[in-house]
Amino acid sequence: MRKLKAGIVISTTRASRFGHKPAEWVKSIAAERSDMAVEILDLRDYPMRFFDEVAQRWQKKVAEFDGFVFVAAEYNHGIPAVLMNALDYAYPEWNKKAAALVGYGAVGGSRAVEQLRLIAAELQLATIRTGVYIQGADFMAALKDGKNLKEIAYLQQGVRDMLDQLAWWTTALKTARQRDALSAAA
Ligand SMILES: Cc1cc2nc3c(=O)[nH]c(=O)nc-3n(C[C@H](O)[C@H](O)[C@H](O)COP(=O)(O)O)c2cc1C
Repeated sequence: MRKLKAGIVISTTRASRFGHKPAEWVKSIAAERSDMAVEILDLRDYPMRFFDEVAQRWQKKVAEFDGFVFVAAEYNHGIPAVLMNALDYAYPEWNKKAAALVGYGAVGGSRAVEQLRLIAAELQLATIRTGVYIQGADFMAALKDGKNLKEIAYLQQGVRDMLDQLAWWTTALKTARQRDALSAAA
């Protein structure tokens, strides 16, 4: 069977951001799996004006994937504006796919992650239960002291459990989308 394609979305773009580190870390754990092909979607590579027109390059890129991992920073208790803008720019490309959520921040980015779940519901993007939260002293050590996320034991198992769930939901939804496409063509 063709590998599931999962896009890991980096939610921030500022010059001194931390966001690419957890994204690369999730990618390295996902790379141990034989059922999933992962690619980082860096919003720096898709600069978009505030939503007012189609951004076909971004929409086409989103359309390539069966599922997503959003690596979410928390900005003022919400999701970063660049991520919201990128979510707004597509709609059918997100529909009926699965999404996993990784947060980072003082409380693991949990307020942004919960906000993302509400937004995802409107995008018909099914968020899976298990999130991964890089928080408190662990977040500060990674952010300020350059501690490698691979050294934080419980987070490794958290990502593995999350990717297992993502693979299950991604397969289920991909099968259902293929069934819809077949019945539309009949
Ligand atoms: C505009 C702004 C707002 C922030 N608000 C929060 C917040 O609400 N909660 C939190 O835990 N951290 C907050 N922070 C700290 C971020 O968690 C920290 O800077 C993190 O590195 C941001 O992700 P990034 O480096 O990928 O941009 C904020 C940072 C910025 C720049």
